[in-house]
Parts: sequence; C-alpha cells; structure tokens
Amino acid sequence: MSAAFTQVADSIGTDSATQPVDPLLQASRHADFQANAAMAMAKALKKNPREIATAVIEAVAANELIDQLEIAGPGFINITLAPGALGGLLAEQRADALLGFVPPSQQTIVIDYSAPNVAKEMHVGHLRSTIIGDACVRLLEWQGHNVIRRNHLGDWGTPFGMLIEHLLDMGETEATQELSQGDLNGFYRAARQKFADSEEFQTRARNRVVSLQSGDVETLRLWKLLIEQSQKYFMQVYAQLEVRLDGSEFVGESAYNDELAPTLEALRSLGLIQTSDGAECLFPPGFTNRDNEPLPLIVRKRDGGYGYAATDLAALRQRTQTLNADRLLYVVGSPQSQHLEMVYEAGRMAGWLQAPATAEHIAFGSVLGSDGKMFKSRTGDTVRLSDLVNEAIDRAAATIEAKNPELSAEERVEVAQMVGIGAVKYADLSSERTRDYVFDFDRMLALEGNTAPYMQYAYARVQSIVRRAMASHGIDAPQIDQAPMIIVDEAEKLLAMQLLRFADVVEDVSDSLLFHRLATYLFDLATAYSGFYNSCPVVDAPDAETRLSRLALCRLTARTLATGLSLLGIRAPEKM
Ligand code: ARG
Repeated sequence: MSAAFTQVADSIGTDSATQPVDPLLQASRHADFQANAAMAMAKALKKNPREIATAVIEAVAANELIDQLEIAGPGFINITLAPGALGGLLAEQRADALLGFVPPSQQTIVIDYSAPNVAKEMHVGHLRSTIIGDACVRLLEWQGHNVIRRNHLGDWGTPFGMLIEHLLDMGETEATQELSQGDLNGFYRAARQKFADSEEFQTRARNRVVSLQSGDVETLRLWKLLIEQSQKYFMQVYAQLEVRLDGSEFVGESAYNDELAPTLEALRSLGLIQTSDGAECLFPPGFTNRDNEPLPLIVRKRDGGYGYAATDLAALRQRTQTLNADRLLYVVGSPQSQHLEMVYEAGRMAGWLQAPATAEHIAFGSVLGSDGKMFKSRTGDTVRLSDLVNEAIDRAAATIEAKNPELSAEERVEVAQMVGIGAVKYADLSSERTRDYVFDFDRMLALEGNTAPYMQYAYARVQSIVRRAMASHGIDAPQIDQAPMIIVDEAEKLLAMQLLRFADVVEDVSDSLLFHRLATYLFDLATAYSGFYNSCPVVDAPDAETRLSRLALCRLTARTLATGLSLLGIRAPEKM
C-alpha cells in the first residue's frame, strides 16, 4: 500500500522525490483494514481525495495478498485481504532469523563514540554518546555489517603538563589510587587550581608539555600511568552499563600522533593549506564566522602543535583509506556539529571521503535535570556515572520487590540489574536524539508508560502466559512454532499488523539512527499485545487449534520485543 501511495504522490506531486507515504492503516468495521492517507495527501496536493484513492487502487499491483480494495466515504480505502494472507506473512517472518528484515550488502562502518577525556570525569554527555553508540553497534552488527568501534578518547594535549606535575606532587602511589577509584574530576580540579594559583607550577606544567611532545621517556611513562588509571575507570563504567567496549577499541587522540605530520603534508601537497596568523589552516568553503569571514580548520597551530582538528583529519584519513570504511558515524553532542562538518568537507576536498562513502554526525542534545537546567548532582558537581547507574539499579530493586515479592533474592538482583540499566538506556534512546532530554529517575523507572520497566514487564508477561498454557495443556515449544497462525479476531489482526511492521522500522532506523522510532514501535507492539490479550483468551481458548495459533502469536511477539530491546542494548527478563 505504501508503495502505491508513494507512486501516486510521485506522479501528482510537484517535488520529484517524494518521501515514502505512510498509508495510515486502521482497523475497519467493513473490511480488514482501511487506509486513510488519501485525505491527508489530497489536502497537501490540493486534489480530490476520492480521485487520489482511485489512483492508488489502480497503482496497487496485482497481488495475491489483497482480495478487494474499495473506496468508502470521502476517500477511505477499505482493504480486504485474501483468506490466510496475514497468517502466511507471519509464518514467513517467524521462520526468518532476522524476523523478515532483508540485510543490505555488507558495509564497513566505523562508529566513533563514548570518547571521554582522560583525567577528567566522564560526564552525562559521554553517557549519551556511549548509549547511542552502543545501540548503533548492536543494530548494524545484527544486520551483518563489519562494524569497527572507535573510542576516540581525549588522551593528549596541553592539560597533561599540569596533570603530570600534579601527579608528581601527590606521589605516584597516592595519585594512582585516587584515579583508579574514579575521582578524575577531583584530580583535574586540584591540578587546575594549582595552575591558577602558582607561577612556579605553571612553569613546571609548561615545561612538562614540551617534554611530553618531544617524547621524553620518563614523561611518557607518567602520562601512561594517568591514561591507564583513567581507562580502568572507564572500563568499569562500560562493564556496569553492559556496553560492548573493552580496551581494544580504545583508539584515543594520541594514537594518531605519528599521522599528524604526514596528514598535514598530504594536505599541503594537494594545495589545500594556507598560512593564516602563523597557523597552517585549511578553509573549507561555505563556513564563515559572524563577520562573514572564512572559517579555518587549524591543522597546525602557530606554536607548532597539532590540535583536535588535525587529529580528526588524521583519523578520518585512516578510517577511509586504511580501514576502507564505507560509512563513518560520529556519535557526538550537537555543539560539535560545525567542527565535524568542516572535517568532512576537508576530507572531501582531499579526496579521502568520496561517494558512496558517507560521514554522518549522529548528534544528540544535552542531558537536563528535572529542573530543566544542565544535569548536576545534589551538591552541584558533575555526577559520577558509576553512582548514577548504581542508583538506578537500587531503585529498580525496590520497585521490583514491591511489584513481585515472589521473586527469589537471586532473581531480584538479576532483574534489578536489567531494569536499572535498561531504564537509563531506554530513557535516552526513546526520546528524540537531537533534543535535550530530562534525566529523571522516577519517570524512567515508572512501570507505566513508554519506559524500560514497562517494556520488560510486557515481555515477562507474554512469557509467563506461554509457560502457563504450555504447562496446563501439555504443549511444547516446537508444537507452537509449527502451528498455523489463523488471524480472525480484530485484535489479532491489529497485533499481526504491528508484528509485520518490524522489518520496515528496523530499515528506517538503520538509515536515520533515530532509535526513538524503534522504541515507539516496541511500545505500540506491547500495546497491541495488551489489546489482543484482553479480547482473545489464550490459555482458555475455545479450541486447541485457536490456542496454538494464539500461542504462536504470543511467541512471535515475545521474540520481536526481545530482539528490539536487544538492539537497544537492553535485556528482557523471563520473570518480573
Ligand atoms: N573527547 C571529545 C569530547 O569529550 C569527543 C570526541 C568525539 N570524537 C571525535 N572524533 N571528535 O568532547
């Protein structure tokens, strides 16, 4: 139907490339479904809706699934399906490992995400990058792509001068201990304070930067010590979040040090480098400052040092030229949009980023507290991420205990883990990525509404219904999975339609990487299931054939929910 609507929109519309048109299917009392999109389209195109509906019906290709199409009222299209059509489609979906999703040809995709700064606390912005990046990894790996993860840690630069001097002042043992416990912020702040207060310290810090850049062995050893302690802490947070990042994907800024000079030389030999104020710059066209002056990408600073932009150029070059990436994703906050666009443009000018390869900024908004201001802890400090995750798990444990006191202590610990972590992730992924989002424990842990606990409970409930029916009627899983699905009742049709949308939703999200659309879909699926369960008895179905068919719907629903959640990095409990 969607294809037919789109075709008609294309032939009438003024724009040549029309977006796919959603047919707006609804349940109908006169047929299986009705498609309502002709009305909206008629309004947009200033045409008669009945004419549009007629054109759509003509555009629907001969099709064994559809029995009859009819225009009703001002321009509804009533759709009557061939008997068994829905059941047949569902059985195909059930037999497919990817639930009907047709994998595209394999690409190499580099995902740049998380990227906290060493010796500085990982803050909630990095939490978003980590959660969204992890979902990108899971979704694209599930489809069979060759996914390369890159944790572009901020592990190089002038702040390391003062950090190393502060480490020496503190003594290595003590400093190491403080850092590995995750008090990166305290360490960073103390160093900054000293830098502000003492000229003597400033001089030492500056000299230390010079030693670091010139590769002094002892300085490098101290720098490594800082890095290792921070990495230990990051790794702890990733493990806590069940995010798939371990040491091997840590390719921080420092990893490109040897590539910086060759990258500059390559750009220079292409004639792309201009000197401005003593700095070596590249001016990508189309970027200007407020006074309409061209904006530079500074490849090498006046003092001879290389900065953030140079590192990103070297990284882009390596990712496209050495790793042969087809698609580059940068999961980074919205404020860095201009920086990234300039880097991509420079990459295109240098010929390193060439179609069909793409670079995309997977931008996201800020994390706000319930007061609508930047998210902070009660004392006004940045929040330690490990505390945050622990609090979510503790609160989840309390909620679960109240909801289901029958779970064993062991089960409760396990479920609290899934729900607490799931809540933090789902709250992030279910809101529109580019908007700011409000971090609110009460809301994310609510058992009602579009939340992780609701979705996880929905899954556990389907599973418990299936278990109960199997036990009381002596049915086993293979019997259910081979049973024909006979879709008769209105609520069964609506559930079937939701199940059949899965592949389309996943396809859309693979391009847009707007995970809230997947979350909304899963929520709608859970809602359709509730509607089905309220009007179609499963355990007490009227006959054995209906019971098996409904159980098959239950199992397919559970599998679709669990798959969808797993693509978001969220586990689904069997009991809750
Ligand atoms: N470390 C940076 C920050 O905290 C983010 C790095 C993003 N990735 C990149 N390739 N620039 O802001």
